[in-house]
Amino acid sequence: MITSRFVRSFLYSHLFVTPPNIAHDFSGQTIIVTGSNVGLGLEAARKFAQQGCSKLILAVRTVSKGEAAKESIQSSTGRKDDFMEVWPLDMTSTNSIRSFVRRADGLERVDVLLENAGIALTYWAEYEGMEQDIKVNVVSTLLLALLMLPKLRDTAATYGNTPHLEIVTSESHKTTTYSEVNEDDIYAKLADKAHFMEGGNRFDRYAVSKLMQILFVQELVKHMIGGPVITLVTPGLTHTELANRTPSRFEYWAAQVLKLFFARTVEVGARTLIAGACAGPDSHGKYMEDGKNCEPDIMCHEAELEANQRKTYVQTLAYLEQLEPGISKNIATTSE
Ligand SMILES: NC(=O)c1ccc[n+]([C@@H]2O[C@H](COP(=O)([O-])OP(=O)(O)OC[C@H]3O[C@@H](n4cnc5c(N)ncnc54)[C@H](OP(=O)(O)O)[C@@H]3O)[C@@H](O)[C@H]2O)c1
Repeated sequence: MITSRFVRSFLYSHLFVTPPNIAHDFSGQTIIVTGSNVGLGLEAARKFAQQGCSKLILAVRTVSKGEAAKESIQSSTGRKDDFMEVWPLDMTSTNSIRSFVRRADGLERVDVLLENAGIALTYWAEYEGMEQDIKVNVVSTLLLALLMLPKLRDTAATYGNTPHLEIVTSESHKTTTYSEVNEDDIYAKLADKAHFMEGGNRFDRYAVSKLMQILFVQELVKHMIGGPVITLVTPGLTHTELANRTPSRFEYWAAQVLKLFFARTVEVGARTLIAGACAGPDSHGKYMEDGKNCEPDIMCHEAELEANQRKTYVQTLAYLEQLEPGISKNIATTSE
């Protein structure tokens, strides 16, 4: 639901604000960027390369596309050293995520995990029993995050630094009432095709997925002991492939018109992704827009927010436990 408050904040952000370009030195760091063959992931990876990172893993679903991205980064940065690797990662497959994490465990260190891969599709498709937007943006993104926590903690313990786990979310979280949270079983409702096809639910799904990322992380950080700084960043509407992937001509052209007037270049959009990868501890569990921390704008009463957040967290963890028994232990929960 597009509210006048959302329209005002969107217009202000996209017409009057340019996120700052953060000149952070990433030398010595090993950085993983998911979905880095195109769009914001590619541009963020290019910035990490320009800003001196020592090892860069392009985590992509099609290795040949990753190799093309690697060449593009090499030619634009002029870096000829052997610092980049292309690794396969398919966020619709739990096995692919497991293999990726096993391989990442063999790295000496992981300083930044930038979870950027995402989709915004309004037609029904499911993977491993879950609707695709929820599978990629929520389930797999959070599964990868929790599976990588031990490696990020080890890096901190060994090198005495503060690693970052960053999730790319979206300002579209402000547009959903997230009706599914009222169900006894949130994930059963999200996996229900009839519900997806009903009314405007399929157009709301991307926003729901992005809100769920925010709610989960806001609750997660309350239960963590030690570990990386976790940030939730939004790039703003940006010229990328995201909206071009729809098979609907109407949706495609509506997005082109919107982007024509308001979208940021991919270089400007990626600036907030860099900010989230080097933010201080005050950004832990925080939402970042236009390059700085701010409050997410969640469409429910403050009293309900806490309960909805907790319910989303508990049910998401239960869902992840089914995929990967014991995964909750990676959080190092406080006694509850
Ligand atoms: N562009 C915007 O206006 C905007 C605004 C707010 C937030 N965001 C967020 O920014 C992030 C990046 O999106 P983008 O705009 O750069 O879109 P994009 O150009 O479409 O790039 C998306 C990336 O995610 C990858 N990906 C999709 N499904 C995957 C899967 N199953 N496994 C592995 N990788 C997968 C894509 O790989 P393939 O090329 O192989 O499909 C691609 O590399 C997303 O999380 C999106 O929600 C974008």
